[in-house]
Amino acid sequence: MCGIFGLISKENLEIGEIALEGIKRLEYRGYDSCGICFQNGGKLTIRKVSGKINNIQEKFNIKSLSGHLAIAHTRWATHGAPTEYNSHPHTDCTGEIALVHNGIIENFMELKKELQEKGHQFQSETDTEILPHLIEDFLKNGASFKEAVIKTLKRCTGAYGIAVCYAKKPDMMIVARKESPIVIGIEEGKKSYCASDIPAILPYTRSCYILEDDELAILQPGEAKFYNIENGMNEILKEPEYIKWSVDDAQKNGYEHFMLKEIFEEPRAIRNTLNIKKEDIELFAQHLLSADHIYITAAGTSYYASLAGKYMITNFLGKYIQSIECSEFQNNLQGALEENSVIIAVSQSGETADTIEAIRWAKNAQKNIKILAITNIVGSSLTRYSDHFIITRAGPEIGVASTKTYIAQVITLALVALEIAKIKQEVSPEDLENYYSALRSTPTIIEQFLEKNTAYVKHIVTNLEKNINYFFLARGISIATAKEGGLKLKEVACRFIEGYSAAHAKHGPISLVREGFPIIFIAPPDETYERLVGNVMEFKARGGFIISVVVESDKKITELSDVTIRIPQPPTQFYNLLSPITFIPALQLLSYYAALEHDLDPDKPLNLAKTVTVH
Ligand code: G6P
Repeated sequence: MCGIFGLISKENLEIGEIALEGIKRLEYRGYDSCGICFQNGGKLTIRKVSGKINNIQEKFNIKSLSGHLAIAHTRWATHGAPTEYNSHPHTDCTGEIALVHNGIIENFMELKKELQEKGHQFQSETDTEILPHLIEDFLKNGASFKEAVIKTLKRCTGAYGIAVCYAKKPDMMIVARKESPIVIGIEEGKKSYCASDIPAILPYTRSCYILEDDELAILQPGEAKFYNIENGMNEILKEPEYIKWSVDDAQKNGYEHFMLKEIFEEPRAIRNTLNIKKEDIELFAQHLLSADHIYITAAGTSYYASLAGKYMITNFLGKYIQSIECSEFQNNLQGALEENSVIIAVSQSGETADTIEAIRWAKNAQKNIKILAITNIVGSSLTRYSDHFIITRAGPEIGVASTKTYIAQVITLALVALEIAKIKQEVSPEDLENYYSALRSTPTIIEQFLEKNTAYVKHIVTNLEKNINYFFLARGISIATAKEGGLKLKEVACRFIEGYSAAHAKHGPISLVREGFPIIFIAPPDETYERLVGNVMEFKARGGFIISVVVESDKKITELSDVTIRIPQPPTQFYNLLSPITFIPALQLLSYYAALEHDLDPDKPLNLAKTVTVH
């Protein structure tokens, strides 16, 4: 939800190009409009456009602009349409204060009314615009720049990551955070950067400071000072975190799109994630073994990874795990959250507002709840609000629709499931080794699949192009794959899909099936297979066009299908349990090529943002 980038440098430089590059690296957070403010010689210059980031270069030749300070913003509209005038940076009445914001100021209506009564003129419909006006007001009353920002933030409720500059203080930029991420990078003695996420500052430094909630930083060229917003007097000492990602990880490296690159990076993401510290996996397993009640919560793709993981863990744990979408967590458990529960929270970004709210609410219930988090981002909010966390090793994911991070989440949950099996000793040592061996084979299976089938999947898509509606059906653990595969097609190719239980689909969805209606069956040869054969026949009998994802040795469903996609894995229980990992690349590829077929940009699906920091 919106990306912020800021830079302050000792010397004048081609700041336009750097600022543009900065927000481009954050474009996955929102891409409906953007804007940049430059400071040169005590004067602020602001440029804004609606639409994609490239528009700002085309209209204003931003790259040619020089200066020593810039703040920039790429927007995902919440309050006010994605027009030029609603784009950030927003300014005060004098035009001397410019500010970019990620988040929502919930009490902006009251504050706006109060400011209007004092004579402030507003140019936009945004909640953000009250911030520079409030700062202006406090400055007028004698506050310093820092005091004015602190006093302003104390009056606001809601969430913010902000960067603000003031024409009269050309050598300083202030950034602050409450629930919306801000990271800071320093090139000592020369330049300071701030951004909503690590990839934007990765080309300049790998060591970064992560602002915590209610913290504010004063950036000067090559240095940063940190304060608490409640007690702005005393400086806080913070240690930087070292980021292992490389700049190349966040580049397309010859691929046409990030989505395709990230699908092809899945084997590497798995191999790296399999190296998560054993002690962390064991700690998760022990908590689950001793828990009285277990919940798993997440949003979007992470939720479907949770569904797959829940099946895997339950298989060995023998306890029920209740999966609840994070946005409904509190509504479901109001008055019913049990003592001594463990909550597993899964989030790629670690910043999804509803996931964070769910676990904070549970923690505040004072019922001895333990939060176990799985996230891809070091220092994210989720790591701060959890009791224990595991960082998946997928590397930076830039495509808005998650691909390799889904796989890394499922791998992590599979490791926890197998650790539980190991501790409980109910599975024989040979079988346990067979499961581990199958898990270690997943990257090779995916590599072989991608090598042999990418062109074939592209070809299938060309023939399906005319269809608008799809069903993705499965039974058992593969329901997670059906839902996630369907979500991908919905997100990037704008098709209407229903990801559903194959058995339950006869209670409603089947009424839509006519001659040629495409139905994708996810069909590993597990204990649900024979019944799934029956479901395939039900849909075929009604004219459905059957596309099945099966293992290479499959016969029955293959015979019933119009098209099959074959996954090169042995037909054993050990591999079947891991099919959410090995089957999903086929569906991700299908969605990728479907997006291209419809002239859509798979990296930037319409109306979506990668990190959703609003409720
Ligand atoms: C958004 C993104 C999805 C993502 C979901 C949850 O909807 O577009 O790709 O799965 O948020 O995000 P998280 O960072 O919590 O995994």
